[in-house]
Amino acid sequence: MSIGIERIRFYTPPFYLSLETLAKARGIDPDKYLVGLGQEKMAVIPPDESVVSMAANAAESILTEKDKQQIGMVLFATESGVDQSKAAGIYVHSLLGLPKHCRVLELKQACYSATGGLQLAYSWLAQHPKQKVLLLASDVARYGLNTPGEPSQGGGAIAMLLSHKPSILSIEPGSGMYTTDVMDFWRPNYRDEALVEGKYSCEIYLKALAETWDHYHSETQRAYDDHDQFIYHIPFPRLAEKAHQHLRTHLALEALNKTELKAALGSSLSYSRQTGNCYSGSLYLGLVSLLDQHKQDLSGQRIGCYSYGSGCVAEFFSLKVTRGYQDHLDTRAHKQMLKARRELSLAEYEEYYRYHAMDGEPNRELPKTTHGRFRFAGTKDHKPIYAEAKPLTHDVQAVAPGKIILSGEHAVVQGAPALVTAVNRYTTATVTPESEGLSLELKDLEHFGTATFDKLKQIKDRLQDAHQKFARGERGIRDVIQKPFELMQYTISHTLERFDPKRKSGFKVNTTSDIPIGCGMGSSAASIVSTNYAVTHFLGEHIDNKSQFELSLAAENLQHGRSSGIDLHVVMHGGCHWFEQGKAERCGGIQGELMILNTGEPSSTTGDCVSAATQKFVSDPTLTAQFSEVTEAVKANLLKHDDKGLIKAIKRNHQLLCQLGVVPTHVQTLIREIEQAGGAAKICGAGSISGDAAGIIWAVGDYKALKAIAKQQGYVLEKVQIESKGVALVTEQTA
Ligand code: HMG
Repeated sequence: MSIGIERIRFYTPPFYLSLETLAKARGIDPDKYLVGLGQEKMAVIPPDESVVSMAANAAESILTEKDKQQIGMVLFATESGVDQSKAAGIYVHSLLGLPKHCRVLELKQACYSATGGLQLAYSWLAQHPKQKVLLLASDVARYGLNTPGEPSQGGGAIAMLLSHKPSILSIEPGSGMYTTDVMDFWRPNYRDEALVEGKYSCEIYLKALAETWDHYHSETQRAYDDHDQFIYHIPFPRLAEKAHQHLRTHLALEALNKTELKAALGSSLSYSRQTGNCYSGSLYLGLVSLLDQHKQDLSGQRIGCYSYGSGCVAEFFSLKVTRGYQDHLDTRAHKQMLKARRELSLAEYEEYYRYHAMDGEPNRELPKTTHGRFRFAGTKDHKPIYAEAKPLTHDVQAVAPGKIILSGEHAVVQGAPALVTAVNRYTTATVTPESEGLSLELKDLEHFGTATFDKLKQIKDRLQDAHQKFARGERGIRDVIQKPFELMQYTISHTLERFDPKRKSGFKVNTTSDIPIGCGMGSSAASIVSTNYAVTHFLGEHIDNKSQFELSLAAENLQHGRSSGIDLHVVMHGGCHWFEQGKAERCGGIQGELMILNTGEPSSTTGDCVSAATQKFVSDPTLTAQFSEVTEAVKANLLKHDDKGLIKAIKRNHQLLCQLGVVPTHVQTLIREIEQAGGAAKICGAGSISGDAAGIIWAVGDYKALKAIAKQQGYVLEKVQIESKGVALVTEQTA
C-alpha cells in the first residue's frame, strides 16, 4: 500500500523585508541575521491576508475538478487561527468549492500540527482508498517589534494533496515520537505575539531531535546511512544546520565541514532563507525547497524528516521520493512567486505589523494590497469576508522551454533513435483582451502589427494552400512561410477557427524569448506551443495534450514540410526523451547542466541538410546502425554520469555527422580544439552544408578550458539546465 503526497504547493504573500534593513534599523550587525541565523529576507503578511486566504491560494492551483470531488477530508494545521470555534478549513472548503460530504478539522500543536495531520491522513486514507485528503499548513510567525525573535518572523502556507497516488512522495510506516511539557514558546489567548524563551527553545528543539531519532531507530531499525537526505523544521536556517550536526554527534559521526553541510542541507534551506519561519508549514517548505532546488535526481531516495512544535511535541519520520516526481512539482511557479515579491521599507513593514485587521470592529473593509486569487476582504457583523479577486485584465501567459538534440539528429529520419532534451531557455506568450481584431507584438521577430480576424483567416487559407502545393511537389518549403511572423498568424488563426470562429472581441498576443532563432534550439516549436497554449486558455478551452500537439503540428509542418513532432513533444512535456520509431519515452534520470555554444544561424535550411544527409545514408547503409549505437552510448553514459565514456561517444557522434557533410569546416576546427583540450563537442540540429555556422553545439569537458577556447574563437560558452517542465501557464489572471 502506497500513500503519500500527490501534489504540494507553497504560497507566500507578495511582500518581504530584507533582514539587512531590519538589522540596520535595530542597530545590529547584519551578519548576526545573515550569518548567525542564516536568514536573508522575511515574508511580511499584509492586512488583507490571513491563514485562510494563504491556504486557499496555495491549494487552488493544485486541485483539478476531479480531485475536488474525491476530497473526503480537509485538515488545517495552524497556530494563527482566526476563530476559537469555527475551523479555518471550512472557509477554504467553501472558497474552493469542495464537496459537502467532507470532514473538516483544525489541528493545533505549534509547528508540529501539520505532521500530526499527515499521519492522521495516512491512517484515514488506509481506510478510504478511493478518497483524497487536502492537508493545509498556514501560519503567520509573529514576535514583538525590537525583540530577539523579530528577525525570525515570516509566514506562508503549504497545501498538500494526499492520496493513494503518491506521484511525489510516499509516507513510510514507522516514526519516532517525543512529548514533554516545556514553556519554550507559547501564545496565550490574550496576545497577538508569541512569548518565547529563545535560547531555551533551541536547546529543547535539539534535545527532542535526539529523543525522536532514538525512538524512530528502535521502531524502524533504520540507521543514519539508510537516509539519502534530511530535512528539519526551520525556525531559522542556522538551527536546521545545527540540528544536522547535532544528530551526527549524537550518533558518534564526525561533524561536517561548511562545504559538506551546504551540500547536505543547502537545497532544503533555500526557500526559508527568503521567507522566514512559517511555523506549521516550515518543515514542508524545506521539503518543497529540496525537491525544487536539488540539482540531482532524487527519485527513489529516502528523506529523514524532523518535525518540532514548541511546548513540545516532536516526531522523526521518513518519506520516499517517487520516480518522475519532477513532473508533478510547481518549481517554476514557486521561483516566479518569490522573484515577483516587492521589498518593503522598514516603515511599510511596521505599518503592516501594527495593522490589526481583526480588532473587534464588527464592520470593516480592508485595503487591497495582496495579489493572490483569494484575499481577506474585511468583516461584516463580525463575520469574516473572503473575496475572490475579479480579473481586471484577464491576461493569460504561457511559457514553453527550448530544446536541444543530444544525439540522433538526421539518423532519426532514417528510423534510428534520438535523444532530445528541454532546456531552460524560454518563450513566453501573453494574451491580453482588446476591443477587436488581433494585435501582434513579436519582440524576438521584431514584428508589430494588427489584422482583423477576416484578414487573419485569409492569411491562414493562403498558407495552407501553399503547403498543399509543397506536398504535391509544386513548390519548395521555403516558399510556404515567407515571413517568420506568418507562422504565428497561422497558429493563432488556426486555434481561433477551431474554438471560437465567430469571435467578435479582439486580443493582443505578445511573445518574448531568450531562445536564439534558427539555431536548433526549438525557437519555433516554443513559440507555436506557448502561443497555442496561451490562446486556447484565453478562449476558456482546456484541451488535452493530444489535441494541443495536433494543433501545433499543423503549424510546424508549414515551417518544416513534414515535421517529426519531436521538438513539439519535448517543448510540451519538458525533460529528456528517447525517440524511436515514432514513440517517445521519458529519460527521467538524465538531468542537470549542459554546456552549449552558439556558432550562429546556419546559411542552409534544415530541408537542404536533410536531403544532403539522406544521400549519404543511401550510399552507406551501415550509417544508420552506427548512429543508433552512438546514441545508445550517449544515453548510457549520461545516466551513469561517466564523463570519459560520454566524451568518447560524443567524439564518435561528431565524426559520423562530419561524414554526413553537415558540419562546416569552421565548426570542425573549433571542435578539434575542444577535443585537443580533452573535451568533445557536436552539433545539435541539422547543421549546415554551406557557410561557417552550424547553430548550437553541445560541448563536454573542462569548463574553464572550453570557455577560453570559445572566447578565443569569438564565441560564448553558456551553461544551460535540463528543464523538467514543459509548457505551462504563468498566470491565468492578474488582479
Ligand atoms: P538572539 O539572542 O538575538 O541571538 O536570539 P544570539 O545572540 O543567540 O545570536 C544568534 C546567533 O548569531 C549566534 O550563533 C551568534 O553567535 C551569532 P550561535 O552562537 O547560536 O551559533 N552572531 C553573529 N554571527 C555573525 N556575525 C555577527 C554575530 N552576532 C551574533 N556579528 C533566537 C536568537 C533564535 C533565540 C531568537 O531569534 C528567537 O528567540 N527566535 C524565536 C524562537 C525560535 O526561533 N526558536 C527556535 C527553536 S523553537 C522552534 O523551532 C519552534 C517555533 O518554530 C515555534 C513553534 O513551534 O510553533 C519557534
